[in-house]
Amino acid sequence: MRRLSTEEINHIVSSVDIVDVVSNYVSLTPKGKNFFGVCPFHNDNHPSMSVSREKQIYTCFSCGATGTVVNFIEDFEHVSFIEALKIVADHAGISLDIGKVDKKLSNTNNPLYEIYDIASKFYSNNINTSFGKEAKDYLKERNIDEAIIKEFGIGLALKKHDMLLTLLTNKKFDMNLLMKSGLIGRNDYGYLDSYYNRIMFPLWDINGRVVGFSGRIFHGEEGSKYINSKESEIFKKGELLYNYHRAKDEARREDKIIIMEGFMDVIRANTIGIKNVIAMMGTAVTKEQATLIRRMAKEVILCFDGDRAGAKATLSCSEELLKLNVIPKIVRLEENLDPDEYISKYGKERFLGKLNNPMNVMDFKLSYLKQEKDLSSNQDVAKYVNDVLLELTKIDDEVLRELTLKKISEESNLEVEFLKSQLQEKQAPPKKIDMPKVVPQRKLNKYDKAQMYLLYYMLQNEEIIRLYNQKITFMPNEKYRNLAFHISYYYKTNGNINIASLMNECNENKDLLKTIGEIEQLRLKEEYTIEEIEDYLNTIKEYNIKNGQAELSQKLKNERDLSEKVKIAEEMIALKVRRENV
Ligand code: UTP
Ligand code: MN
Repeated sequence: MRRLSTEEINHIVSSVDIVDVVSNYVSLTPKGKNFFGVCPFHNDNHPSMSVSREKQIYTCFSCGATGTVVNFIEDFEHVSFIEALKIVADHAGISLDIGKVDKKLSNTNNPLYEIYDIASKFYSNNINTSFGKEAKDYLKERNIDEAIIKEFGIGLALKKHDMLLTLLTNKKFDMNLLMKSGLIGRNDYGYLDSYYNRIMFPLWDINGRVVGFSGRIFHGEEGSKYINSKESEIFKKGELLYNYHRAKDEARREDKIIIMEGFMDVIRANTIGIKNVIAMMGTAVTKEQATLIRRMAKEVILCFDGDRAGAKATLSCSEELLKLNVIPKIVRLEENLDPDEYISKYGKERFLGKLNNPMNVMDFKLSYLKQEKDLSSNQDVAKYVNDVLLELTKIDDEVLRELTLKKISEESNLEVEFLKSQLQEKQAPPKKIDMPKVVPQRKLNKYDKAQMYLLYYMLQNEEIIRLYNQKITFMPNEKYRNLAFHISYYYKTNGNINIASLMNECNENKDLLKTIGEIEQLRLKEEYTIEEIEDYLNTIKEYNIKNGQAELSQKLKNERDLSEKVKIAEEMIALKVRRENV
């Protein structure tokens, strides 16, 4: 991996506008000098994140996330600084060769990764031996060819009970750990492989590392259709989305992500060239997953199984997404088919036709709510109208609201105006969504306040840096002292101050970013008076002297030598004079 010079980094970063880049990921609305959007780094649906064109940084006033365009991509895409920089360079049309990258992997030394990696290679190898013929025939039958088998790492657990066990114990893995992986189990006679004669599908975390498997029966034996390996420290079903790491780039390119229920559906969709697709793996969508989905693309399409369970899952997934202000579109497949079956029965073109004509989520809800209701009965109509109105309160889209009101007005013969007034009654007081959420400010003591305020102005005015360097050069708190040091150093080498390029220079020092975040979060006004600044400087000075005095008096107590004692006393008097002059 190549290290880049500050000049190279600055050149790339200054070739893009943070507002343009961030708006590819989060929709931004201008407000005053800044742009606001919903922060993707914590769970929220208020537009608490501000993006400043002037400063070329973003700051979330709610969670304190802050940084440059590179930091934004780092956190959004879960990539390293250098990979994020590459993405920024792509935006700018600058070619940047970063060489081979060490993936930013948290918790990377967990030995479970190695176990799944070995297992994955082992299963893959099995399916390519003569023992794999039946499995391959089965997959071929399902239109899954060699290339897809390879791409999705599909493998095979053989009809023997100790193959993986032998392989892993030969590699000296601890038995407890093997049991924890879920790949090895035990019965009355001893340890054995958990998977026996199943087609093995690796499951990946969002960084693309194998963290588990799902094994499918393939010639009608007993047992559940799929067996998933158990959850572990690195495998949390509610936190991953099948195929996320492979789908995300294509999703971003098309600004569209398609969600299915089963991973077989995802694999099948890939066989006909649909790549921006992920699966829920048969569980209800969690908040974490919804947050991930929101980050993938603006347009979210739910294409679940065509049966009743699929409709129900569509509804609950929509609810979770709507909570995050993501308004999904819905595709429903006829004849209870799932996407895989639909593609097999009706072919690629017709399936693409369905995907390209999704219905809006309210129309889906209308038809769902209409099921089993008899709209010729007044009682059912009333229930239906009330249900729809309740659903409308959850949706933050005026056009959709109007359209829906019109529809149910026609269906119920009630006036639109009347429906509107009913809706208003149901609705909670309107959220002020164009206002960033106001965060209760933490009560600062006067010393913290002085340091933070001073740093805020140092971050944008050379004048204040000079004053700081003249009057004091020491901040009491270590983190503030550190930041002040970096600011002064930046100023000394560059002759000016630029918060974005300071952040880029300190890209390995995440604590520094955190401190800047705390300070930016205070949302101070930009103008200042020299009197205010002097006030902060004096407060800090006073604190330092007081501290110095305390230290000296401790020293005085411990000192035996009389002439040393005198010296210390003199120092104390000098400090006292200084303090009085502050
Ligand atoms: P489905 O039963 O819809 O699977 O379950 P599918 O995609 O149609 O699979 P095929 O076509 O029969 O092979 C959807 C998801 O629910 C989970 C799996 O993750 C599956 O992808 N599931 C299903 C299980 O975990 N265990 C099961 O026994 C069944
Ligand atoms: Mn299926």
